[in-house]
Amino acid sequence: MNIVFASGNISKIKEINHLLDNKFNLLGLQDIGCSEEIPETQPTIEGNASQKALYVYEKYHHNCFADDTGLEIEVLGGRPGVLSARYAGESKDANANMDKILSEMRGLTNRRARFKTVISLIIDGKEKHFEGVVDGIILSAKQGTQGFGYDPIFKPDGYTRSFAEMDISEKNKISHRAIAVSKLVEYLKTLQ
Ligand code: IMP
Repeated sequence: MNIVFASGNISKIKEINHLLDNKFNLLGLQDIGCSEEIPETQPTIEGNASQKALYVYEKYHHNCFADDTGLEIEVLGGRPGVLSARYAGESKDANANMDKILSEMRGLTNRRARFKTVISLIIDGKEKHFEGVVDGIILSAKQGTQGFGYDPIFKPDGYTRSFAEMDISEKNKISHRAIAVSKLVEYLKTLQ
């Protein structure tokens, strides 16, 4: 089955293709001639995932899925959440985003946080959502150099190291995205 992953991020496409055991013919946006920026203007992670998948389904008429992820910090009322990529500004600078959070949380004892990924899948016009959550804490300083985004300041529960101190294969076994993708994969396998 051909299925489009509504993402221009080549490493994410490769990662998900690998998790799918190459059982589907996974296409990226460039494969279907979509080079425009897909709107992500909804106020929630779920809403943005749906908006991206629906955009591709309606405009390009392909079965597809889209993901959206955010870091939700309890004491900040769930921020940065849907604003995660641009928390410190339009430049999407990961270091600036982390510095903003570290300074907002300086001295605070409640450091509970979670990463949440929502995948919206649209097959023949019907939509399903798959969610992956990893609970943890925000460290008081950056630790580690692997990964991307907020990895250096997030330590998942049950581990002594930040996501950025784990190698990619270790993080990929437990991450929010891996959990959501494995639910998606299990569902897709039932369609075959
Ligand atoms: P996206 O929806 O996957 O583009 O993620 C939005 C933003 O959340 C990214 O720009 C990152 O700042 C952050 N993010 C998403 N996934 C991760 C992760 O696995 N580790 C750290 N930060 C992440």
